[in-house]
Amino acid sequence: MGIVFKEEQKLFRLTAGQSEYVIGLADDRYVGHVYFGRRIEDDGCGYLMRTGEMPYVPSINKRETGAFMDTFPFEYPVQGRGDYRETCLVVRTQEGFRGCELVYKEHRILEGKPALLGLPATFCTEQGGGQTLELVCEDKALSLKAILRYSVFEDSEAVVRSVELVNEGTKPLYLEKVFSACLHMDCGQRDVLTLNGAWARERHMERRALGYGRQQVSSLRGESSHQEHPFIAVLDKNADQDQGQVYAMHFIYSGNFAAQAERSQFDSLRMTMGIHPEGFTWFLAPGESFTAPEVVLVYSQEGLGGMTRTFHDLYRNHLIRSPYLHEKRPVLINNWEATYFDFNGDKLVHIAREAKKRGIEMLVMDDGWFGCRNTDDNSLGDWTVNEKKLQGTLKNLVDRVREEGLQFGIWFEPEMVSPDSRLYREHPDWAIAVPGRDPVQIRAQYVLDLSRPEVQDYVYEAVAAVLRSADISYVKWDMNRQLTDVGSCYLAQERQGELLHRYVLGVYALQERLVTEFPRLLLENCSGGGARFDPGMLYYSPQIWCSDDTDAVERLAIQEGTALLYPLSTIGAHVSDCPNHITGRVTPFATRGHVALAGTFGYELDITHIPETDRMEIEGQVRLYHQLQPLVREGDYYRIASFGENHRYDCWAVVSKDKGEALMTYVQVLAEPNYHSRRLLMKGLDADAWYRMEISGPEYAGRENNCPAAADTNQGNQQEDVGRWKDSGQVYSGRLLMYGGILVETLYGDYASRLFRFVRV
Ligand code: DGJ
Repeated sequence: MGIVFKEEQKLFRLTAGQSEYVIGLADDRYVGHVYFGRRIEDDGCGYLMRTGEMPYVPSINKRETGAFMDTFPFEYPVQGRGDYRETCLVVRTQEGFRGCELVYKEHRILEGKPALLGLPATFCTEQGGGQTLELVCEDKALSLKAILRYSVFEDSEAVVRSVELVNEGTKPLYLEKVFSACLHMDCGQRDVLTLNGAWARERHMERRALGYGRQQVSSLRGESSHQEHPFIAVLDKNADQDQGQVYAMHFIYSGNFAAQAERSQFDSLRMTMGIHPEGFTWFLAPGESFTAPEVVLVYSQEGLGGMTRTFHDLYRNHLIRSPYLHEKRPVLINNWEATYFDFNGDKLVHIAREAKKRGIEMLVMDDGWFGCRNTDDNSLGDWTVNEKKLQGTLKNLVDRVREEGLQFGIWFEPEMVSPDSRLYREHPDWAIAVPGRDPVQIRAQYVLDLSRPEVQDYVYEAVAAVLRSADISYVKWDMNRQLTDVGSCYLAQERQGELLHRYVLGVYALQERLVTEFPRLLLENCSGGGARFDPGMLYYSPQIWCSDDTDAVERLAIQEGTALLYPLSTIGAHVSDCPNHITGRVTPFATRGHVALAGTFGYELDITHIPETDRMEIEGQVRLYHQLQPLVREGDYYRIASFGENHRYDCWAVVSKDKGEALMTYVQVLAEPNYHSRRLLMKGLDADAWYRMEISGPEYAGRENNCPAAADTNQGNQQEDVGRWKDSGQVYSGRLLMYGGILVETLYGDYASRLFRFVRV
């Protein structure tokens, strides 16, 4: 790891693990991208900027400066001087003129990494120090200074970037677009990979050929969204999980974004990422500065798997701050799918009592405990406990649940207000709205204007007062609508374009206060399922509810896409009841458990009402969770097969950092008749080590039909099998498991699953 400046060659070389990022200066003015990829360690690489060929640089060929502007691989391209590709910065003056030209002024190489004020960002740690390059550029005509920041860490392959803009003049400037990062490469034969979806179908992987023009994913919804994710990767056509080059960008931000890959006329490729410019204008008064959120850049020469592991390690080591990051999270039971709004104190205590018998450790009371909320169309904002419904005070209920032996968690939706609420009747101007119009309702609610300090204070105090009133261990922070009618009664006319970003800053400020006052609180973010599952929120909460879709089969694609970037320890995953409330699908209870084990693990069902056979499996599942959670939380993730690709089965693995233990989860989504066993190649093991293989998973159907399925675990009854490992009785070499593979017999029935555990002997 390290950052060096090569004076003679005018090169900045940033080394991060096996990757290298090189920046050059052309004409001593223009900051250009030289290289990002596998380490080359050669100061002669500056020619890669192609300034030695037509149109050369403006000092040699002034008459074609425009062609230079339109082809040079600018590190931070700006609008208005002839670069017609996607640029990063658009500035308007008070007089209404647009255009900017940033030229190099000076640089600094710093030990460590400065924080980004008010924004979530990666940080250095004792084990993982880092360095930061600050490249200072200026536009003298605008009196605008741009500080391009790049950091690398001792223990990471990633490079992180952000930018700060400072108005050093005497007149205000209007920033109409501020992206955070840009990356160049020759296009070659490449694909684009993005994560797309919808409510209950979040983060499905979408891979397509990279054509000419701009290919974009974005959000204009005020949150990172269910639909498109602030991530984009460009990868070799032949890249797969294990090999091939991948260039990825991921945004540490929770609001509107745009991420783009643009193939230009000369087959060069520009990737960009930042806050979406639509609806954004930042008024930069003289002396003020604006900091854009951070982008993570990852280069992998080991395909998508290598990229994934770099993101996982970066987020675990340099982004998530929660004390729970390396701690076991309590197995929770949430009452949302159990009761929806139809509960009272006794009902919750009854659930808690039954849950305790099975080893569950925390009860989470979801939506409906405050104001007079028995449906979703009222009371948001009125965070007063409905004591009639809870049959006593909140403290009283918490104490009752604690007496049953469980911790207590609670749901909030702090950013919202119902039109039918005391808060809205008293402060209609606190809702985001355009004067003269009723805001559009989504789920019968409005969004609070978090750009206003008094609104932030109200929201914070409302939440904190509840938390101070009882022994509460966990908060689920929900957010169930997108932003519309983007207007604020508080902001001045020239600052209206700041509202969307200020809203996100307001969310960050609130969560910062919360984790500061309640450092041991386990915070789980949520947004109508997974609409705000992004690295920004991870800075505040170590886990995020992944999706409202708890169907085990739907979760395969959702969790595959999510785990592409996020450690499994961050992925909120629960076992729910069947038929699944969203899909109507019926899957084995064991499979639901196996899928949820690839996440934070918990339950989302009425344990007092589910079939006794299911209930009896819970104890074993909880035992499995306790056994496996250190491995799942800290290990390296490998994708072995994808149901999305093969339409038959799914398989993934987690291997401990020391390669001493591994878990492989196999889900046979669709049974196939008259078929051979399936060969699965393990990944990530120590080739030279020997492993004992154990198998877990009930044989739930085949026995009655005398079906010769999965002969390995079919003794004993179903409930007793759950959570127990059956030793295969054999020891295998890492080489055999990885290169020869294991054979999994066809299981009986759709949606069947197995866990395989490998322990080094
Ligand atoms: C959306 C969340 O994703 C659900 O889990 C639940 O908390 C509901 N909101 C409650 O309104």
